[in-house]
Amino acid sequence: MRPKVYVSRIIPEAGLNLIREACEAEIWPEVMPPPYEVIAEKVKTVDGLLSTLNDRIDSPLITGAGSQLKVISQMSVGYDNIDVKAAQARGIPIGNTPGVLTDATADLAFALLLAAARQIVEGVEYIRAGKWRTWEPKALLGGDLSGATLGIIGLGRIGEAVARRARGFDMRILAYSPSKNPADVSKLGIELTSLDNLLSQSDYVSLHVPLNAETRGIINAESLRKMKPSAILINTARGAIVDQQALYEAVKNGIIGGAALDVTNPEPMPSDDPLLSLPNVTVVPHIGSASQRTRDKMATMAAENLIAGVNGKPLPNQVKV
Ligand code: DGY
Repeated sequence: MRPKVYVSRIIPEAGLNLIREACEAEIWPEVMPPPYEVIAEKVKTVDGLLSTLNDRIDSPLITGAGSQLKVISQMSVGYDNIDVKAAQARGIPIGNTPGVLTDATADLAFALLLAAARQIVEGVEYIRAGKWRTWEPKALLGGDLSGATLGIIGLGRIGEAVARRARGFDMRILAYSPSKNPADVSKLGIELTSLDNLLSQSDYVSLHVPLNAETRGIINAESLRKMKPSAILINTARGAIVDQQALYEAVKNGIIGGAALDVTNPEPMPSDDPLLSLPNVTVVPHIGSASQRTRDKMATMAAENLIAGVNGKPLPNQVKV
């Protein structure tokens, strides 16, 4: 009998085809993710679950799963929606998709950085509002990248890929990443420093840490006060790393210069969120990994983890904590 799996979203065919060839697959058909109760019910009978970052895979859900559940394969690199300890306690391996979305996410971080620095969104809105009457010597003046300092918080794969892009733009690069060795990163033109130093010296601060108990809310009223009044915050990691109320106050009151966010807390961000009323805040809907090639690779990797898991084999990419 083929293993039974539940796939919580319609993922790209590249992954779905692999799953359909190897398993008896049930796929949630809607655009919106399945309710919690649906997944809680499915894990009582299936051998494998393919989840996305929208699904809350918490301790009660994992504890309530049937003894046949052999794997949870998440189609993302981040897995803060999953109670990893609860899964480990049940001996259920968790798969994720590291590496394949590094460049796409770094591209988006850099796109946001450039958009915020050069007021791209304001420029588009300016034209749409019929305000473009002439070339204006003093209109829409932004910041330069060359010679400016970029502060990268979290120097994993994506942080490093952002640093490589910043080098091409002749930026000075600071990073806060306690586990890294200064000699290793200086080869990449990166200077390791303390968080406080990074915040006070950077013209652009880009977040690349996973969301966990240590990183939740590390950008808060106090840390925002340490930044330059002209500084721009970029977040392509997870929304809850930033205290959004504090960010709103900081941008509104000129404590920092602006922000560009791919991730928010909650997601989706309600359309009446006060941050959206600020002209120097740009928000896009969690599209860091949203290139066709990247999503195909993520789907393939998630499928491979799922298929290995249901067959009792080691996952090609297993979360280790
Ligand atoms: C991830 O993989 O964690 C990303 O946030 C998905 O875009």
